[in-house]
Amino acid sequence: EWNAGNVIAEQVARIREQVGDSLVISAMSGGVDSAVSTALVHKAIGDQLTAVFVDHGLLRKGEREQVERDYVASTGVRLITVDDADTFLGHLAGVTDPETKRKIIGREFIRTFERVQRELVEEAKASGKSVKFLVQGTLYPDVVESGGGSGTANIKSHHNVGGLPDDLDFDLIEPLRTLFKDEVREIGRELGIPEEIVSRQPFPGPGLAIRIVGEVTRDNLEILREADAIARAELTAAGLDKTIWQCPVVLLADVRSVGVQGDGRTYGHPIVLRPVSSEDAMTADWTRVPYEVLARISNKITNQVPEVNRVVLDVTSKPPGTIEWE
Ligand code: XMP
Repeated sequence: EWNAGNVIAEQVARIREQVGDSLVISAMSGGVDSAVSTALVHKAIGDQLTAVFVDHGLLRKGEREQVERDYVASTGVRLITVDDADTFLGHLAGVTDPETKRKIIGREFIRTFERVQRELVEEAKASGKSVKFLVQGTLYPDVVESGGGSGTANIKSHHNVGGLPDDLDFDLIEPLRTLFKDEVREIGRELGIPEEIVSRQPFPGPGLAIRIVGEVTRDNLEILREADAIARAELTAAGLDKTIWQCPVVLLADVRSVGVQGDGRTYGHPIVLRPVSSEDAMTADWTRVPYEVLARISNKITNQVPEVNRVVLDVTSKPPGTIEWE
């Protein structure tokens, strides 16, 4: 019978045997898969593992703190945060095309990660050790989708910020390869990872950049971050975070409309709410969120985010709409 404790014990023994006394690096994104695979490897080999968290400046409000504080406190994982927002935003300046945004972010992610990786390899060498393994949070459905490749770096770009470098001299540790998402969540709970991370909804690697229709500037990011935090808090307070698959909050930075507030005319941006219900993100329906909850979200966003004077609801299924707007 399936049991999280047994799977953990089995994997821990296996990882220890595979790794020996080598050092291991993990790319921790804050998502469920990387959080659980990283914690599992840490349970097996402790500080032989270093987790690398890249802050590309496109994260949601509180996300970095959640990883740096709550995740580290609950797991003891040795975590390095790389603050590279300036680089990412520099390359994204003036870019509005969705695929170009994705390409830039994917490319810069690899560059940043490789740089840190080289530093860690050098550091290890200096102390007479070597880094030989990379942790991947590959799940069973990913293995099936990508044609069941064996342990080489064969990652669908969609499941990662654009895929990790595949020309590296590392072997992969993929402790979640036989598991489904709900099993991974169970293992995460058993490992003591905070519920907010374990039950986190999917969030795309390119982050808020593909939820801004228009240019990804610091100002636009700040507007979207505030609106998104309000929507998430209200959905959670209404108990809907567990039933909704995910709810992208999108800033139409290229669009303005006229509004009125107090005795003044406003000319602000719309925010789109995109709550969807889905089994696997391949198809989706828009979620019938209760009107009262939508009203609260709308009121709070327009009251608290001065640049936003309109909140609209996306009532399109997938297909024809995708879940994300970009
Ligand atoms: P779409 O918009 O294609 O999204 O209906 C399907 C699911 O994939 C997520 N998504 C991404 N995840 N990198 C990711 O890691 C991406 O570039 C990306 N684009 C979409 C989306 O959030 C949804 O869960």
